[in-house]
Order: sequence, then C-alpha cells, then structure tokens
Amino acid sequence: MATASFQLAGVHLKNRVFVASGTYGYGDDCAEIADVSKLGGIFTKSLSMKPRAGNPPVRIVETTGGMLNSIGLANIGVHRFIQEKLPFLHRVDTAVFANIAASTFDEYAEVLTILEGREEIDGFEINVSCPNVREGGLTFGTSVPAVAEITRRLRSLTKKPLLIKLTPNVTHIAEFARAAEGEGADGVSVINTLIGMAIDIRTRKPVLSTVTGGLSGPAIKPVALAKVYETARAVKIPVFGIGGIVNARDAIEFLLAGATAVQVGTANFIDPSAAMKVAEGIVQFCDENRIADVGSLVGALDAKTGVSVLDSWL
Ligand code: DHB
Repeated sequence: MATASFQLAGVHLKNRVFVASGTYGYGDDCAEIADVSKLGGIFTKSLSMKPRAGNPPVRIVETTGGMLNSIGLANIGVHRFIQEKLPFLHRVDTAVFANIAASTFDEYAEVLTILEGREEIDGFEINVSCPNVREGGLTFGTSVPAVAEITRRLRSLTKKPLLIKLTPNVTHIAEFARAAEGEGADGVSVINTLIGMAIDIRTRKPVLSTVTGGLSGPAIKPVALAKVYETARAVKIPVFGIGGIVNARDAIEFLLAGATAVQVGTANFIDPSAAMKVAEGIVQFCDENRIADVGSLVGALDAKTGVSVLDSWL
C-alpha cells in the first residue's frame, strides 16, 4: 500500500486528509457513525475565549453546488472546550488541531496560551478569515500587516505546528501566505469561504440574517484550486488545500496543484464519512497507478503548456 503519512513541523500525521474547521464540531458529534482514526486529523470548530451564541437565524442556506453560512463563530469557548471536549479528543487516535478565532490580537494570544500546555492538542489553525463578524475576522485577514503581526505574536507563544487560515476575498492571496511564512508559520490553510449572498424574491429580503455569508462546497472548488496553486508557488511552507472537496479525485487535484494536505468541509454535512472515503480513495489511486508515496503527488502538476494569468505577477 502507498505511504499515506507525512510530517508537519516534526509532528507525524497519519495521512493527508483532515476535516475542516466548523464542519465537524469538536470531533465528537459523529463518533458513533464515522471513524475519525482514519483521518490525518481534525480541525475543531473555531474557539474563542468566551462562549459565543453566534448570529441570529437564518444562518445557513443551500445554493447551487454549495451552501452559504453565517454562523458568527458560535462556540462553547475555550474553557468549556477543555472540560467537555478534550477528554474525548484525548482518546481518539488522530491529530487534533485547535482552530482559534478572536476579536483582538490579545484574545488570539490568550486562547492559544491556554491550549498550548494541553498535550491533547497537536497544533493550531488561526482563523483570520471569518466573513461574518464585525470585529476580527476579515478585518485581520485582508490586511497583510495584521496577518504578519498575528503570526509573529502567536509564533512566539507556541512550539506546536502553527497554521494560518487565509481568506480568498483578496486580490493576491500569495502576499498573505508570504507574510505568514515570513513570521514563522508552519503552514497556511487555503481557502476559507468566499463572500456570497442569497435573496428571497417573494419577500425581496436577503435570506441570511447578516445579508452576506460564506460560500462553500463544490461551487468554489475551481477558485480554491487556483488559490492553492498560486500560494504553493509563492511559499515553501505546506499548504492545506480546502474548497469543495467531495471525493478522492478532487483531493488529488489539490495535491497536484501543490497542497501538502487537504481538508474536507461541506461534504461532511452530506456524509460524515466523506473525508475517510477521500483518504482511502487517494491510497487506492496511488496503488492502482504504482505511486509509492502519496507525497509524490504534491505539486506534481504538469503545467509546461499554457500560460496562467498568475504567471505575470508571481
Ligand atoms: C464562519 C466562519 C468562517 O471562517 C467561515 O468561513 C464561514 C462562517 C462563521 O462562524 O460564521
């Protein structure tokens, strides 16, 4: 069987397929019906210092080939997470990355510091790209100096793998990846959701209470692939590819575009075992094609022909 495992900043990970933040709760929701030990790891729902109720309904709407959401970072807060969720996460045989969202630089630092001492947590993913909150979120994620500053501060507080989750709602995502890399991030997650909107034509009102929300699912896959391709060519640190992956073929496209690993998100709402099937399917593809190590697919795109608009400025 093809080798599926890899190393991220000195941490051994079973395979290159993870469940994306906000799409798998705190890992325990589907414990009886899906086997998370078949994954490279779990990215938790975004954690903030205090519990957050999130935005008022309507918070989710289906769209063509995807969904829009405006959850507003609803979560139980870091202290309840430690008390109620870490005991389960300690028992699962897969890596756990805590995703952190915050309104201020200090809040990011505080939440990370609380979790840094917990052996159950294998690494961090920093959400600087939530489209649905007034403070923090995109105000950080669309400023290169802010992404650099957050990375610099958090880097000084953790020895664990530190990933920065970037927004596609910018002109050149590679500039943000370079800023994170320059301040010592171990990787970047590309992409978070695209800003989208839905309207009810009878009421003439926006469907979501916040008017706009984050678009995810297969509808965004081509955008995500291009952003991963752009990012992977601009930095040396690993890129976690995210955006509309529903099967192994999708995931392999991301690996070829330069992603070191992938996260499955929206597909989990249709099938809580989708990510496990993606992991199995990648190995099966490698075995069928005599590829000894899944890692040899990373960045193996044959782009010798054709010219991308990205070429002109990268
Ligand atoms: C939310 C956060 C995100 O990072 C995102 O991409 C979409 C929605 C939220 O909690 O509202």
